[in-house]
Amino acid sequence: MKILVIIGSTRANRNGERVKTWLEQQLNNDETTSYEMVDLRDINLPFYDEVKSVAGLDYEEYSHPEAVAWGKRVESADGFIFATPEYNHGPPATLKNAIDYAWQGWNYKPMSIISYSTGQIAGARAAEQLRLMALGVKLLPLPAAVHIAHITDTINEDGTLNSNKPGQALNKLTEELSKIAAKLKET
Ligand SMILES: Cc1cc2nc3c(=O)[nH]c(=O)nc-3n(C[C@H](O)[C@H](O)[C@H](O)COP(=O)(O)O)c2cc1C
Repeated sequence: MKILVIIGSTRANRNGERVKTWLEQQLNNDETTSYEMVDLRDINLPFYDEVKSVAGLDYEEYSHPEAVAWGKRVESADGFIFATPEYNHGPPATLKNAIDYAWQGWNYKPMSIISYSTGQIAGARAAEQLRLMALGVKLLPLPAAVHIAHITDTINEDGTLNSNKPGQALNKLTEELSKIAAKLKET
């Protein structure tokens, strides 16, 4: 099974870099599950400007090669982990745009959320909004999640943690996600 790990913040000097570094160190492939990191900063998706909704388009009909590649990459996965910061109580527009740019590749696949913020809310409001957005593309949001408050105090730049809670929550998240992704893949 392939799980895409989507890093949702693209801004310069993002704290999402700490989250990405931590996840690169923690998410190890095993005999059943492989993790593939997708940094939205690297894939250069334009803001959505197709003449139709992607629900009515084959990937080959997309106007931009980056969008074709993105659609195919989503299609290739069996499940997803979204790492989202909180921007004005929601996920960043970059992440919503990446969701909008695919359709059947998301349908009926499970997704889990890692949220974070510099304050005490830990991105929990963005996570809830992201669950609702996910339902719009028929993703299946799972309950186990990681919420990281005070991100700069909790994860160091080298990806090491100053608390054992995110690691425990991540283990529960990956256990649940790989179990459900395997069951859905059988159907
Ligand atoms: C546009 C913007 C809006 C923000 N809104 C919130 C917010 O609503 N709640 C919150 O807890 N933090 C908010 N923050 C602070 C973010 O939690 C903090 O900047 C975090 O590091 C963002 O993730 P990033 O650095 O990976 O982009 C906001 C930051 C930005 C840039």
